[in-house]
Amino acid sequence: MSRPLRKVVFPVAGLGTRFLPATKVIAKEMLPVLDRPLIQYAVDEAVEAGADTLVFVTNRYKHAIADYFDKAYELETKLAEAGKVDLLEIVRSVLPGHVRCVFVTQPEALGLGHAVLCARAVVGDEPFGVILPDDLIRARGAGVMRQMAEMAATHGSGVVAVEEVPADQTHRYGIVAVDPVGGRAGRIRHLVEKPKPAAAPSRLAIVGRYLLPPRIFDLLEATRPGLGGEIQLTDALESLAQEQELLAYRFAGERFDCGNKLGLVRATLHLAMDDPQLAAAVREFVAAHG
Ligand code: UTP
Repeated sequence: MSRPLRKVVFPVAGLGTRFLPATKVIAKEMLPVLDRPLIQYAVDEAVEAGADTLVFVTNRYKHAIADYFDKAYELETKLAEAGKVDLLEIVRSVLPGHVRCVFVTQPEALGLGHAVLCARAVVGDEPFGVILPDDLIRARGAGVMRQMAEMAATHGSGVVAVEEVPADQTHRYGIVAVDPVGGRAGRIRHLVEKPKPAAAPSRLAIVGRYLLPPRIFDLLEATRPGLGGEIQLTDALESLAQEQELLAYRFAGERFDCGNKLGLVRATLHLAMDDPQLAAAVREFVAAHG
């Protein structure tokens, strides 16, 4: 995939049941980690990787995400009039001027694969990224999507991010069997969705970052509902890996699964301990309650 990455898809149409009742009215992706919603970390990573078109696959209840990335005229005018330049800058930095957002509705939550397929008309015939905002990744060096874009440019193939998970966690992920190709990459031989430990071909789990060729859309069209009656992205990835080279990339960085409460707490603590204004007080609090 020699073309530069321009479009990134954010499938955000899930129901977020693990955060009920908050997610009755707040999209899970709008839950804050410190002062920024989860979706902001994902968008920053996409923009850093070179994307200028962000495609949000939402459901009809998630207006807040569109509102968040829209211009806040009244607020900006008030902050400008009050001379609050710093705050104005914070509000405006949500989205750089050259980046546009496109919103697509997934009419029914038929699975992650189906959500990605909903972006087809906007993505068209070019390679694209997929970021699941639940997976907040604090990368070492460049952001993970950028690391993956560099890998895709070198190898000319699709890339999925993987992480080694404990054996008792394989049933929560798509698991890959790979042949090493050097460095942090491996060529995917085979993928299995949510295997029990005994059936898992490895402990390398696919996490929420993908860089895919447009061929994946045809394969998703042909994918029948799998586990849980949902159209699984993993099933289409398995077909892709049988047709062409697809790499698994062990990214450099730390992942927080903010789709569950413990992950969100961990991410919040991690970022707070990285913040010079909060670090000392947070460490003191944790030590006192540990
Ligand atoms: P999850 O499996 O975390 O589901 O989806 P969920 O609905 O978001 O959360 P819980 O499990 O009910 O708490 C993984 C990703 O796929 C998206 C979600 O928005 C999330 O980013 N997704 C899932 C869709 O966009 N559409 C779907 O039909 C399913």
